[in-house]
Amino acid sequence: MKVFVTGASGHIGSLVTAELIAAGHRVVGLARSDAGAARIASLGAEPLVGTIDQPGPLAEAAGAADGVVHLAFKHDFSDFMAAIQTDRTVIDAIADALDGSGKPFHVASGTMMLAAVQAGRIGTEDMVGDPESSPNPRAATESVVLGLAQRGIASAALRFSPSVHGPTDLHGFIPTLIAKARENGFAGYVGDGENRWPAVHNLDTAHLIRLGLEQAPAGVALHAVGDEGIPFRQIAEAIGRGAGVPTRSLSPEEAAERIGFIGAFMGVDNPTSSVATQELLGWAPTHPGLIADLDEGFYFNR
Ligand SMILES: NC(=O)c1ccc[n+]([C@@H]2O[C@H](COP(=O)([O-])OP(=O)(O)OC[C@H]3O[C@@H](n4cnc5c(N)ncnc54)[C@H](OP(=O)(O)O)[C@@H]3O)[C@@H](O)[C@H]2O)c1
Repeated sequence: MKVFVTGASGHIGSLVTAELIAAGHRVVGLARSDAGAARIASLGAEPLVGTIDQPGPLAEAAGAADGVVHLAFKHDFSDFMAAIQTDRTVIDAIADALDGSGKPFHVASGTMMLAAVQAGRIGTEDMVGDPESSPNPRAATESVVLGLAQRGIASAALRFSPSVHGPTDLHGFIPTLIAKARENGFAGYVGDGENRWPAVHNLDTAHLIRLGLEQAPAGVALHAVGDEGIPFRQIAEAIGRGAGVPTRSLSPEEAAERIGFIGAFMGVDNPTSSVATQELLGWAPTHPGLIADLDEGFYFNR
């Protein structure tokens, strides 16, 4: 299969690219810089120079491919709605190029989309986030992606755990929480810290994305989840151990003030299952969990 991957130079995309190539697929990877193009070429893929601000060439590349994985995203949390709008424009352009083709179009999403609908329950693949009440405005994007199945596109929402962890995780929530712990002199959690976050290793995620492209039916959510739900206090304790700072309980308001953007998500209870994804794809997470990865030390020694 010839696969067009946006975000191919990133934390998740670079491992997906390597995984696809190792399995015998060809990859065209979007690169917005010379460094990105070099990284993509070093993985054995063909770089396509461009940006998500100019969707025309991306739609063309999607039309010429047998499948698309869309992972690129502007992680500019100072203007999150603009990032979401750019993402929607790219998705709409690629969808127009794939209309009626039956080709897979798999798009980054997150388990947090379910947080408002799952209260007291473990999130499952059949649940759909409510764009009105979800704490994450990307829920609206996900519902557009799932709806593309009605247009003859084998779309799937890749619901990533809020932490897709591993050595290439340089800008995700965990590195940000570590930086905040160092800055504040403590690792925070909200209330009693019993709220749960799912997590998944990056290598397990890459494997899941490859299997999904090869096998998933149209209009499904795939859960990239290894740890179903780690009490957030345990994550804070592991960050505290690694960063050499104490842990501290925060009110939701203090969390927003002291931790910033992630403070709003820190107290969310988001236990999530991947049982249906595992059964659908014959996938099983095999790499270390988040706490083991944090205790490994690499997050703190760079
Ligand atoms: N990592 C997680 O824990 C996690 C959790 C939930 C959801 N997600 C979602 O999963 C997707 C991939 O995440 P990631 O962790 O791999 O992110 P990442 O490491 O920050 O990679 C982002 C990718 O997007 C590219 N990109 C950013 N702005 C671009 C632009 N204007 N034009 C073209 N390309 C651009 C980056 O290129 P450069 O290499 O040039 O910067 C990079 O390849 C994102 O949608 C993210 O929000 C991630």
